[in-house]
Amino acid sequence: MKKRILITSALPYANGYIHLGHLAGAYLPADIFVRYLRLKGEEVLYICGSDEHGVAITIAADKEKVKPQDIIDKYHYANKEAFEKFGMTFDNYSRTSIAEHHETAKEFFKDFLEKDLLTEKEEEQFYDEKAKMFLPDRYVEGICPNCGSDKARGDQCDSCGAYYDQLELKNPVSLVSGEKPIVRKTTHWYMRFDKLQEFLEEYIEGHSNDWKDNVLQQTRSWLKQGLNERAITRDLDWGVKINDISGIPKEKAEGKALYVWFEAVLGYISATKEYFKLRKASVDEWKKWWKDEGTRYIAFIGKDNIVFHTLIFPAMLHAKNDGYILPDNVPANEFLNLEGRKISKSRNWSIDLKDFLTDFPEENYVDTLRYTLAMNFPETKDADFTWKDFQARNNNELSAIYGNFVNRTLQFLQKNFDGKIPDLSEKYIDVKNQWMKYVTGNKSLEVNEVLSENDKLILESLSNGIEKISHYYDIFRFRDALTETMNVARAANKYFNDEEPWKTLKSEPERCAKTLFVCCQLVRTLAVLFAPVTPYTSKKIFAMLGINSGTGESNEIRNTEFLNASFPELQSGQRFNTPEILFKRIEDEVVEKQIAKLGDMEEQKAEETQLITIDDFAKIKLRTAKIIEAEKVKKSKKLIKLIVDLGDEQRQILAGIAEYYEPEYLIGKTVVVVANLQPAKLMGLESHGMMLAASKDGKLCFLTPEKDDVGVGAEVR
Ligand code: MF3
Ligand code: ZN
Repeated sequence: MKKRILITSALPYANGYIHLGHLAGAYLPADIFVRYLRLKGEEVLYICGSDEHGVAITIAADKEKVKPQDIIDKYHYANKEAFEKFGMTFDNYSRTSIAEHHETAKEFFKDFLEKDLLTEKEEEQFYDEKAKMFLPDRYVEGICPNCGSDKARGDQCDSCGAYYDQLELKNPVSLVSGEKPIVRKTTHWYMRFDKLQEFLEEYIEGHSNDWKDNVLQQTRSWLKQGLNERAITRDLDWGVKINDISGIPKEKAEGKALYVWFEAVLGYISATKEYFKLRKASVDEWKKWWKDEGTRYIAFIGKDNIVFHTLIFPAMLHAKNDGYILPDNVPANEFLNLEGRKISKSRNWSIDLKDFLTDFPEENYVDTLRYTLAMNFPETKDADFTWKDFQARNNNELSAIYGNFVNRTLQFLQKNFDGKIPDLSEKYIDVKNQWMKYVTGNKSLEVNEVLSENDKLILESLSNGIEKISHYYDIFRFRDALTETMNVARAANKYFNDEEPWKTLKSEPERCAKTLFVCCQLVRTLAVLFAPVTPYTSKKIFAMLGINSGTGESNEIRNTEFLNASFPELQSGQRFNTPEILFKRIEDEVVEKQIAKLGDMEEQKAEETQLITIDDFAKIKLRTAKIIEAEKVKKSKKLIKLIVDLGDEQRQILAGIAEYYEPEYLIGKTVVVVANLQPAKLMGLESHGMMLAASKDGKLCFLTPEKDDVGVGAEVR
């Protein structure tokens, strides 16, 4: 058994707002897990923070026409605040611009230099002459050397996932100036990851049974390709500078910064150091979390970060040879889609957390969002968030099952039991003991049979349920854990229905009291079980019950609520506070408005992007031409084969107009054609150009000059 558990979530770039995709990938799963562990009484440290270096930041700064520092401040604080409102319970939300971080990163670099794990090399790289800068990978775009897709990034293709050297990119374009870059020499330091291949293979195979398939697959395919040395410096003046490191010539280090991935992963360590410094703990306290075999480390990330956490970071920790522990698990999630489509910030197909919080400021909606996302975690494959599902989860599950059970129980007690947990008088001890015997399986407890069949049934589903929930959490199957949690709420409702307390109130008052006594306990049980996912609601329930019980927050005194969730902890006869509705219904209009918002943005954007410049238009060469031959293409309903005369040449053009014109009618007519269209083959026939026609509502007519003056071959503008 490990003594303590260290949890990290990928450090988000401080160049944009956190959106639902981020939450479902790396943040909410970690927070749920952390709260669950804390509620079991585990010693946990949960670390995160902003990733504030790298080209992503400088691109954002250029775009917003401000300094990188302004960008990171803006997004660091905005994201920190949004995370807090969303109920994230980091022990420290740090940032990579802090001095500790720069020192930590340089310490690793210097150490690798001394260990001969770094090679200095002069290499060719793309250089933008107009912008006067070397182009880091994300500043170049071109055609993927592997799959041919355009819009491939400098070193990675989003379409096929291939990684390659920048210079292999075809038709490179600089994203800074839009120009074609030249190739120029520059010096960089390369980390010899090839030397760590064998170690990494062993490490990964050692986890072949406990890591998720998606994680193992991606990692293994990298290992199979073989690790190469990789440049861990960049020509950038924003980041961790290396010009004051002894052992490398200053002139050469000038203008260089550490590659953001090399230092960002170390941000977990520096954030831990900062955490203990802020708490004025001893200077070595952080080592307990990073250099002690008694610590189990779990790194939560999204799928685009897998190899950095399964290979690169472990390689660095191992190579440092300083007692660092390695990730024990990296439960990466796949991607979350939105309304059936890929989330895209640039196309505004995205929901920023801060916008959600503005539109849904009440805490119950935060819980609904947490619940909906968790039910749709992309644990094994990509998943989808839809507003209709958000509404349905709220109305049909949280409100109709969980909220309803809590509400009907407390309302019933308020009306019929004076707002108190039923007093079972002399039966109280027996009920409690027999209950404990049931849920702990402790047969030695000598008790009188006071439980009914229904009581026993619900207690059974309770202890089975909790066992399953814990098991699923332990293997990172959060969706299943949550489904089981909701099933406990379902069972509780069934119990209430089967016991019919509204009938027994008169006919068997003692039984009615016991039924409600059980229901009260179940209300508390549910609040504990749901606490990792819907903590705000649990807090409300605990307040209504008038008890002190945690929800797994950072500074709570550790308890073991989750382990005792099935115990009858509420005192017979105890008074509770006024119940309130937990989940307000969400009406159709509310989600329709949200869906429309997405659509609106989409259209706006599409209209914007349709604007072209006069130069774009000038690329299209339109000319007048006379149709000299026309005949139907055999076996085609639509095509007519035309021979047109452009004055200086004759061309064959296939036009899709056979449903509108007879070939004879066309002969002799002057039309407008696109003269510089790439030739194409249609039905095995060459078409060299395109004839212009206007069409609407199933009607079509070709375009013709208003009078004959200009003749054929005239330019149309
Ligand atoms: N900033 C990166 C991203 O958002 C993740 C960095 S994770 C870290 O994709 F470990 F490197 F910090
Ligand atoms: Zn590709």
